Amino acid sequence: MANLQAHLRIPGPTPLPDAVRSAGAWQMVNHRGPEFAALMGRVGPALQRAFRTSNDILLVGASGTGGLEAAVVNHLSPGDPVLAVTIGAFGDRFAKIARQYGADVTTLAVEWGRAAEPAAVAEAIGRMRDEGRPPVAVLLTHNETSTGVTNPIGSLAAAVRSAAPDALVLVDAISGLGAVPFDTDGWGLDVVVTGSQKSWMVPPGLTMLAVSARAWDAQEQATIPRFYFDLRAHREAATKGSTPWTPPVSVCFQLDVALGLMEAEGYESIFARHAACGAATRAGLMALGFRLFADPGHASDTVTAAYVPEDLDWKPFNADLRRRGLALAGGQGKLTGTVFRVGHLGYVTLDDILAALDILEEALEATGRPVERGASLAAGARAASEAGRGRIAAATDPVVAEPGSARDAGQAAPPAAQGAPDTARAGA
Ligand SMILES: Cc1ncc(COP(=O)(O)O)c(C=O)c1O
Repeated sequence: MANLQAHLRIPGPTPLPDAVRSAGAWQMVNHRGPEFAALMGRVGPALQRAFRTSNDILLVGASGTGGLEAAVVNHLSPGDPVLAVTIGAFGDRFAKIARQYGADVTTLAVEWGRAAEPAAVAEAIGRMRDEGRPPVAVLLTHNETSTGVTNPIGSLAAAVRSAAPDALVLVDAISGLGAVPFDTDGWGLDVVVTGSQKSWMVPPGLTMLAVSARAWDAQEQATIPRFYFDLRAHREAATKGSTPWTPPVSVCFQLDVALGLMEAEGYESIFARHAACGAATRAGLMALGFRLFADPGHASDTVTAAYVPEDLDWKPFNADLRRRGLALAGGQGKLTGTVFRVGHLGYVTLDDILAALDILEEALEATGRPVERGASLAAGARAASEAGRGRIAAATDPVVAEPGSARDAGQAAPPAAQGAPDTARAGA
């Protein structure tokens, strides 16, 4: 049987480095014991560095949607006016969660494929204020995975701050944080949510949230009922190096290892790698004749959406791609059947993108289209190097000691000390 995972190019879950895969097989530890507390002691500060924040960071056993639900139920009360800025299917989901819990949600719906504009956000807040219902929170999406658009979160948050200084800024950063520059504290974000299966090179199972001092204060006033996602319980447990409920221990091991790999590579290098992969994907797809969906000024460096050409029957074409070992994602929500998506986040290099383009060339040629073999790879490589990022480092793949093993010497998984990036896997 063909290895369908050979080229997993969906926007999460993403491929895993070997060291992260191995950590998933480690023996369990007591999640209320010293090994787990030590892990929490490493992961918390490492995530603070990745989020660029001194705010508390909580690990919650749930998918990203659970993190969004936690952001809603901990900070809002039924009837609270909320502005949801949505630029696609995931922005719609965030709004829907708030509505489901009884918030009075006003939606600023931006045309799919475009980013939100700070002035439009300020105007929407102004209208709400004129109606006597200024928003207590504004919901923003950092990277809209359904359309392949990255919002200018810094400017959007600044617009919120000036139009509604007291409103909390709650951000879905699930599919961008960790792959592209992000500045939680610099941008004054109150709650930032991400998910383990995205840029973090970890399987699904954990959502990580950064919570500001203002947000903690707001939680005392919020009256939506909550239990599993009550972040106060999570904070209390975190002070003891634990979680209030049993966490996905293996995924926590894997996150610990992955964060070490990311720090060994360095965030600047990670951002450059994603910028190169994003540029290569866009240029390669265009060279193959595909039309891109996103506004080029806000194209995401973690996921690219392209239109399915009218004369291409997507289902059999996609089945052929899968037979050749390439897994892409289809369209979501109202874009189902209209676009397909290529994920380029997490454990990905320029070589991986070129390999995917090569398979696309083969499959297109097999449909009888005229294809200039190698042209999309050349365009992709050129775009990556034009971005000044032709030579990119990739995450290392060291063997990391299992907690309690002889090599571990009392310290679980010290991956940050595992050496320099593996340039053998670097892009051309
Ligand atoms: C931007 C964004 N928000 C929310 C989600 C939902 O996350 P999950 O599927 O982990 O619940 C995703 C997942 O793709 C996402 O990309």
